[in-house]
Amino acid sequence: MKLLITGAAGFIGSHFTKYWLENYPGDLVVGLDLLTYAGSLKNLGEAERDPHFQFVQGDISDRIRMDKLFCQERFDLVVNFAAESHVDRSISHPDQFMRANILGPQVLLETCRKYGVGRYHQISTDEVYGSLPLERPDSFFTEESPLCASSPYSASKASADLMVLAYYHTYQLPVTISRCSNNYGTNQYPEKLIPRMVFCALRGEPLPVYGTGENIRDWISVTDHCEAVARILLAGRPGEVYNIGAHDEKTNLWVVKEILRELGRPESLISFVADRPGHDLRYAIDSGKSYRELGWKAKHRMEEELPKVVEWYCRNQDWWEKKQ
Ligand SMILES: NC(=O)c1ccc[n+]([C@@H]2O[C@H](COP(=O)([O-])OP(=O)(O)OC[C@H]3O[C@@H](n4cnc5c(N)ncnc54)[C@H](O)[C@@H]3O)[C@@H](O)[C@H]2O)c1
Repeated sequence: MKLLITGAAGFIGSHFTKYWLENYPGDLVVGLDLLTYAGSLKNLGEAERDPHFQFVQGDISDRIRMDKLFCQERFDLVVNFAAESHVDRSISHPDQFMRANILGPQVLLETCRKYGVGRYHQISTDEVYGSLPLERPDSFFTEESPLCASSPYSASKASADLMVLAYYHTYQLPVTISRCSNNYGTNQYPEKLIPRMVFCALRGEPLPVYGTGENIRDWISVTDHCEAVARILLAGRPGEVYNIGAHDEKTNLWVVKEILRELGRPESLISFVADRPGHDLRYAIDSGKSYRELGWKAKHRMEEELPKVVEWYCRNQDWWEKKQ
């Protein structure tokens, strides 16, 4: 099979590229990435030299470029990780998010329709569902929960989801969507919570925590996310949405305190700052459908994995300091 993985030089896309090359060694993988500030070929490591892998620099919203690539390569599967992914940037520069996150998927869908594919898979996020109340710990997002995005980032992702489903209903394009919770792992750009906090703590700088730090996120290891996406690609039903989560809810403050504890730094470094506008309170995912239909379940827990992730950022300061 021949796969197109977009956003292949980003955090999750690079993990998925390595995962696929390792687990499906007979397949050919084309990794496409615009190499924005968030993408780096270093994230691909050895995979970049794998004879079954080819890297292409390009923009998913460039119709002419995508047409040429699809015409030449005739992909069997397309997985779209490419996106502008940082909520804070979407608040300061929403227009960039419309192009990458809405127009980009539409161009990919249209090109898939023209050349035909076995599957188009859209990587979405639990943020499209909006926020759950903190005082209702028994409530979870299911695939039937209404889309209720609150930031320009989540609104752009929700828009893409609707477009993807429209291509299924209108043109019978075989699509699937996965909506995953917050990922942790190596190679994440240092603007995101975990690497950013490690970076500040190592320098003895204040660790900025929004509001009271009580916002809850449902954390999942990037490895578990990659495995779930692979299952959906191979066994998911066209036209369906699959939630992916690990039932591993933590407050932001818990995450920050754990990082400080791992690094032997004092909690006095925590600095509470003005809350993000429209900050969602709690995300929590019911991924029962992925378990029932695909037999997928997260294998990792944050308590065991976070120390390893923190250690990786400490050992790889060269990699991430250059990304500031
Ligand atoms: N990080 C998370 O916790 C999380 C959780 C759920 C869903 N997601 C989704 O997963 C996907 C990947 O997220 P990530 O955390 O790896 O993000 P990231 O910012 O680390 O990577 C995104 C990659 O996309 C590339 N890119 C951006 N615009 C592009 C364009 N127009 N054409 C081609 N490439 C482009 C960037 O260069 C970068 O390499 C995104 O769609 C995001 O919405 C992320």
